[in-house]
Amino acid sequence: MSVVENTKLAIIGAGSVGSSLAYASLIRNSAREVALYDVNTAKAEAEVLDLAHGTPFTGASRITGGGDMDVIAGANVVVITAGAKQEPGQTRIDLAGTNARILEKIMPQLVERAPKAVYILVTNPCDVLTVIAQQISGLPAGKVFSSGTVLDSGRLRWLLAERAGVAAQSVHASIVGEHGDSEFPLWSQASIGLTPLREWTDDSGTQVFTRDVLDALRDDVVTAAYRVIAGKGATNYAIGLSGARIVESVLRDERAVLPVSSVLSNYRGIDGVALSVPSIVGSRGVERVLDVPMDDGEQELLQRSADALSSTIKTLGY
Ligand code: 2OP
Repeated sequence: MSVVENTKLAIIGAGSVGSSLAYASLIRNSAREVALYDVNTAKAEAEVLDLAHGTPFTGASRITGGGDMDVIAGANVVVITAGAKQEPGQTRIDLAGTNARILEKIMPQLVERAPKAVYILVTNPCDVLTVIAQQISGLPAGKVFSSGTVLDSGRLRWLLAERAGVAAQSVHASIVGEHGDSEFPLWSQASIGLTPLREWTDDSGTQVFTRDVLDALRDDVVTAAYRVIAGKGATNYAIGLSGARIVESVLRDERAVLPVSSVLSNYRGIDGVALSVPSIVGSRGVERVLDVPMDDGEQELLQRSADALSSTIKTLGY
């Protein structure tokens, strides 16, 4: 993939997620320039230096950054990863208060420096923070969105691919709703190649994805981050790669359909809440939220996810 000329990606937060996103973006040539900012100047400068030493082995991308927020000036895309991270035993929603206060402080400073950028929230709880960032900035809903369940959908596609013995790229399936405990797979629309998932059989003609298997796979995705965090304290590589993929869709105006989370208005009865549903992502951010088919059970789960997020947003005063 070639780098689009004069594209600049700014990453806020040089922790494990921000640094991994920078690393993935350099390797994938997602942007011409990747600028990494962190309030901790020493950490930001050290990460930038380490990444810069690797650029002779990547494409034409360059890495810049440090502890002065002006490094983000001129960015086309700003990805926010700054904030407290989940500790073992915590849910993403447990971080809402702390990370909302951090966002309230930095969002105006970011918009002042990169007023034309598309903003992507990765910090958790990303759906809740998307509503806050959109309200604080006053930017159009499509220009402030979150990575949402793109990562969770990747986890699901990988699991399904392993079970079916096919490439993950040939699995079409999405997790939708909250990037968190109330998320769920849209099984009614999932397919492998052109075969509906529930009709997929093994070599002997036996159905592979029975109700029990599907339930177990859903649980596996919903609990995946908890297991990674229990083992190594954070998730970083997969969010870095999936984040880079979203950034590319914006910078290359690809109009890829991705389950990102933007503030919805009149979407299947949901208003003022951000949650993930398949959306077209292009140079203006979320170009269109798609009204994908859902069965009655899925519609109910979506509404439940919206209700859970809405009550958290209200407790934060939004
Ligand atoms: C993840 O799902 C923790 O939200 C982060 O990996």
